[in-house]
Amino acid sequence: MKKLLDELIEKNRHLTKKGKVADYIPALKKANSKDLGICIIDMKGNIYTSGEYKTKFTIQSISKTLSLMLAIMDNGVEKVFSKVGMEPTGDAFNSMYKLEMPDVYKPLNPMINAGAIVVTSLIKGESSEEKFERILNFFRKITCNNKLNLNEEVYLSEKETGNKNVAMAYLLKDMGILEGDVEEILDIYFKQCSIEVDCIDIANIGLFLANRGKILKTGEAITTDYIARIVKTLMVTCGMYDFSGEFAIRIGIPAKSGVSGGIMASVPHRMGIGIYGPSLDEKGNSVAGYEVLEDLSKKLNLSIF
Ligand code: DON
Repeated sequence: MKKLLDELIEKNRHLTKKGKVADYIPALKKANSKDLGICIIDMKGNIYTSGEYKTKFTIQSISKTLSLMLAIMDNGVEKVFSKVGMEPTGDAFNSMYKLEMPDVYKPLNPMINAGAIVVTSLIKGESSEEKFERILNFFRKITCNNKLNLNEEVYLSEKETGNKNVAMAYLLKDMGILEGDVEEILDIYFKQCSIEVDCIDIANIGLFLANRGKILKTGEAITTDYIARIVKTLMVTCGMYDFSGEFAIRIGIPAKSGVSGGIMASVPHRMGIGIYGPSLDEKGNSVAGYEVLEDLSKKLNLSIF
């Protein structure tokens, strides 16, 4: 497996030149566009790595899978999906125009920013500090990494420039979907996106979902099979935004991308995959990371369809 990963990283590395590192959050511009790394953890706990798998990056939208789990565990499926839908949008991750369409009274799904902000608002805690502590501890548990922490620079950069998320959150408040203090909810959302991870951490998230909500090493059930299934299904239909359809056909693995260049993928009952490649295509997905995953899916016959 290690040999295969080395081959795929080398084969696809030139593609990192094709895309562009995200710059709408200024601190993300510092990433090295040539980086490309992968980690696979199988159901026996074997860890295989290649390329720049140790490079740290902020979790960004991959966090939406974990916050959704925590919000459902806090509130139940019914309450969460009364405030956010289950349908793909076919639009960009930060699109908000559908919120103003007739008959749309909630964000279409939890993987777009509008939906994720609503999900974060549902996470319980006495104060905003406690809410973020709960999120961080939950992320630490699932990644099996107690050292996980906030990247303060990215968080502040995002807080300063996240005007569209601010606009969206106030619109959601006006629609009666978002309850509570808007600025406080946004602050928690920006922090949640700025938790720093590497390929091993996100492979562990994929593994946790592949193992139906249980930590592989200990057998501890953190969430239910049903909640893990909801998350994997939404990853298939909405995880790669307006590229999810083609991704499902060509790769066929539940996956979630983030603007810092991560892709977290989960092959049910088989493995968790973490990929990092900060050079992005115009839809906000890792250019080379996507190709590595496509090659891997074909070589190992990973499509779930
Ligand atoms: O809210 C934002 O814009 C970022 N914190 C997360 C966006 C993101 O990762 C979209 N993914 N492709």
